[in-house]
Amino acid sequence: MAGAIRRLGIDDLPAFEALSESRGWGRTSVKWSIVLRHALAWGIDRPDGGLVGTVTLCAYRGGPAVLGGMLVAADCERQGLGSRLVQHAVAHADGPVLLYATAFGEPVYRRLGFVTAETMHVHIGTYADNAALHHGDITVESARPGDVAHLAALDRAAGSGDREVVLTALAATAGARVAIHSRSDAAGLAYWSDGVLMVGPIIAESDSAAIEIAGALAAGSSRCRLDASTTQVALREWCRGSGLDEVRTAPGMALAAATGWAPDTRRRTLASQGFG
Ligand SMILES: CC(C)(COP(=O)(O)OP(=O)(O)OC[C@H]1O[C@@H](n2cnc3c(N)ncnc32)[C@H](O)[C@@H]1OP(=O)(O)O)[C@@H](O)C(=O)NCCC(=O)NCCS
Repeated sequence: MAGAIRRLGIDDLPAFEALSESRGWGRTSVKWSIVLRHALAWGIDRPDGGLVGTVTLCAYRGGPAVLGGMLVAADCERQGLGSRLVQHAVAHADGPVLLYATAFGEPVYRRLGFVTAETMHVHIGTYADNAALHHGDITVESARPGDVAHLAALDRAAGSGDREVVLTALAATAGARVAIHSRSDAAGLAYWSDGVLMVGPIIAESDSAAIEIAGALAAGSSRCRLDASTTQVALREWCRGSGLDEVRTAPGMALAAATGWAPDTRRRTLASQGFG
């Protein structure tokens, strides 16, 4: 019953949202609409309407491609659809391919040759604003073009490739914030997704600047999420002390062919697991 894999576009947003919601991921309209407009996405149609499977690929020039949006309808699992979609997306990447896996996805990726390169810790909670945290050297604004370009340049220098289009789109969403540190090479972005302020990416040379940026972005918000790797010890400790508990971990996996890829320590958080 499995149909052909086809390229998805913005007209497929309602079907993508419905599949996402059916798998407990929420509609996450902000993320899917940016992916469908500015990245690559493929899906398989359900004969009677809607989608039975999806996958996305954010291929950044000069950096790794990040695979995400891997969803198969619950009534169509274990028929090989997920594996076919991953292989289709991987064939469209011309460099290292990364992804952040769920427990469901991990065995599928491992069978297809992905190996764990890092572990992400997902911190979510109600942000307890710490008035003692110094925000004086940080400007937090809704998107100003120069600020996003500055963040994108730091992000590029930290090995992410050219993500300016995606970062600009995220910064243009309702309520998004961009933080720039005036004394340090540090900047970050936060945007709303399904009522949660997604804090990331943050790019910073030092632990202290990363934490100052995170605090400035999260200030005054309610529910926040920040994903940081095992190596970001100070930032994760700050999260725990600020009400953002660790709720799960997600292996960051790279296709074995991408040997040599290693996360850059200046990249402190993810924009999201699908955006990298
Ligand atoms: C992960 C997912 C995309 C796999 O899709 P799929 O079409 O079933 O994948 P395939 O048929 O190619 O591979 C099947 C493998 O997926 C895993 N899997 C699929 N359904 C599963 C289930 N209900 N329980 C546990 N593992 C499951 C198993 O490892 C299975 O291998 P097995 O049959 O040898 O045990 C699908 O289960 C899904 O959408 N899950 C919810 C969303 C999610 O976690 N996505 C992954 C993000 S990283």
